[in-house]
Amino acid sequence: MDDFQRIHDAGLQARAIIQKYQAAMRLMEVRFEILDRDLNLKKHRNPIHSIESRIKKPASIFEKLERYGKEPTLENMERYIMDIAGVRVICSYISDVYSLLDLLCRQDDLEIVAVKDYIENPKPNGYRSLHVIVRIPVYFLDQKEMIPVEVQLRTIAMDFWASLEHDLKYKSVSTVQGIDSYDELADCSRVIKEVEARMQVLARALEMDE
Ligand code: GTP
Ligand code: MG
Repeated sequence: MDDFQRIHDAGLQARAIIQKYQAAMRLMEVRFEILDRDLNLKKHRNPIHSIESRIKKPASIFEKLERYGKEPTLENMERYIMDIAGVRVICSYISDVYSLLDLLCRQDDLEIVAVKDYIENPKPNGYRSLHVIVRIPVYFLDQKEMIPVEVQLRTIAMDFWASLEHDLKYKSVSTVQGIDSYDELADCSRVIKEVEARMQVLARALEMDE
């Protein structure tokens, strides 16, 4: 086999893999849309504010493999990188986040690989979200494959915090007007948590009124 043939084959293989994860990501999004609509129809609830999804960029995949001390191969990428496909579900209330997790766990063709609850246990910097690695069945011409998707469930307020934290970290902004931005963000996270709890109580009162 000549070099060109090898490069061509590797390209095809990589495309097939990305296509697989794109399919899994879309299927996962639709599961959430169906739950949202059904909750709306039957319980007059509207748990999902918005859904975002993305396929991880090759550069980030290889950077992560390097961090894990693994060779940058397609095989290792599928074996070790669980967030090639990512779906972020943004809710109004924390109770919606946990209701969706519960509904997901009850779908018997899904395989819940791992749950990381950074709402119950926030990261030291103040990051809060619920992360779930889910394997979803994808049907192809000749086989079915269980493909992992990283689902991040969070509230609008958590998303607001995470976006700012991400941008400040990305731009390496460590102080703002003489204040340590790390400490300030951690404090904002605590305040957000408190406000969310208070607003949840108000929202419950509204529910009971219905
Ligand atoms: P990576 O953080 O992606 O290397 O993987 P991990 O296995 O440590 O997973 P973890 O659950 O910690 O985080 C996965 C994803 O959650 C990240 O890619 C981000 O999208 C998000 N995330 C985790 N921690 C933070 C954080 O401190 N700030 C922000 N803004 N996002 C975070
Ligand atoms: Mg991490």
